[in-house]
Amino acid sequence: MTAAREQWGSRLGFIMAAAGSAIGLGNIWRFPYMAYENGGGAFLIPYFFALLTAGIPILILEFGLGHKMKGSAPLSFARLNRKWEWIGWWQIAISFVISIYYIIIIAWAFNYLWFAVSRSWGTDTIGFFINDFLGLTESPLDGGGIRWAIVGTLVIAWVVNFAVLYSGVKKGIELANKIFMPVLIIVLLILMGRSITLPGAADGISLLFAPDFSRILDADVWVAAYGQIFFSLSIAFGIMIGYASYLPDESDIVNNAFMTGFLNCGFSMLAGITVFGIIGFMMHQAGGALPEKLSGVFLAFVTFPEAVNQLPFLQAAVGILFFVSIVCAGMSSEISISETVICGLMDKFYLPRQKAVIGYCVIAGLISLVFATGSGLLILDIVDHFINNFGIVFAGLLEVILIGWFFKLKILQDHINPISDFSIGRYWRLCILIITPVVLGAMAVQKIRLGLTTPYGGYSTPAILILGWGIALAAAGSGVILSRIAWRIPVDMAQDRGTKTGN
Ligand code: PHE
Repeated sequence: MTAAREQWGSRLGFIMAAAGSAIGLGNIWRFPYMAYENGGGAFLIPYFFALLTAGIPILILEFGLGHKMKGSAPLSFARLNRKWEWIGWWQIAISFVISIYYIIIIAWAFNYLWFAVSRSWGTDTIGFFINDFLGLTESPLDGGGIRWAIVGTLVIAWVVNFAVLYSGVKKGIELANKIFMPVLIIVLLILMGRSITLPGAADGISLLFAPDFSRILDADVWVAAYGQIFFSLSIAFGIMIGYASYLPDESDIVNNAFMTGFLNCGFSMLAGITVFGIIGFMMHQAGGALPEKLSGVFLAFVTFPEAVNQLPFLQAAVGILFFVSIVCAGMSSEISISETVICGLMDKFYLPRQKAVIGYCVIAGLISLVFATGSGLLILDIVDHFINNFGIVFAGLLEVILIGWFFKLKILQDHINPISDFSIGRYWRLCILIITPVVLGAMAVQKIRLGLTTPYGGYSTPAILILGWGIALAAAGSGVILSRIAWRIPVDMAQDRGTKTGN
């Protein structure tokens, strides 16, 4: 029995889901540091430039494409041109890989939520994280045994992800985001209130925003800004194409894209103020010395617990709220990146949602156990670096070039404008046709040069070849293989799916 494609229940639901995908760990632990490192307040100029010339225009493109084609990334690309289907699968393969390691961080946050209750991380927070908690090994290829405490929380994270995806677009994804997003914003506002009233907070915040305009002419700063916008807005992963395929016919594409973009960046600002307020407090406690780790996993699991230890009161509450924010921000992104895989499988193999979700969760869940071993963090570090730096830049570049140069953008524009309040036109086409390909092309060259000349992170060559280049290339290769498999039903009809689902 065929059934119509699932749909979002409301416009708010879609925006919450798209913003939920965009707002993630990248906003909390990546944006503040990127800004600080790349000129502070002056970084905001390339950052907003990137938002307006690449971020929002590509969001409009992806929303418009998914909406018009009513399909996951592979189906949408296949409908533009059968030869391009593989790009959609490549994006999905990249998403599949990320979905497997992103969830481990949510699992750690569950563990730390519990540790926060009695600050059981002790005074040596780095020793605790690396040795007691992760049992980190020397090399990524030296497993070091399963960490059962992490397996436990990993199972919890997978159960939540499974339950949401299994329940469908409206009753699962939309509902979950309508819970996670408001909770996240409230928790972050409370944390910000605590952060900015700590002694020294103002110094930390001015460290973040003090502009160093000399950096503006540095090409690397611009590359960093565009890179942050791409990762942060979840573009070029096929996610936004799939999410938009569930929009009803009358949906304001342009407005939705602006809202998603601005919500995401607004959230990054709040997170930046919160994180640097706390860093300022730590500097105040340490007589001016900057904490060692200001970004990524170590910011969340080492520096932050240390800051909690130093708080005058409400230690447990602040610790718990912080890890709640990591769980909410991470989970809503994890759901989106898993859904992009499921959406593709459902379209191509004409599967009912339930089967696709079970298949995906079992396979991805089993593979994710690799990250719950003593070498989990090292493997994560390599895989993340390569898949992010190479996969996304190249898949994104191909996406804009193929759609922009070899397909009449006007057709998409004519689809988008009648249903949107604000019209797009020459400026949008300029961004897609010229600005983004140029910037992404420059990024691609820079990444390849760096990748070939500097061995990443001092890891051994076999580790880099297998876990880095190997997985990044395998993602592209599986894109090609999957696109060769025949569609179960003709591409023009594949938007309707096998069995009735959650809606
Ligand atoms: N946009 C998310 C963030 O900022 C990360 C993410 C990337 C989520 C890719 C899904 C897909 O953390």
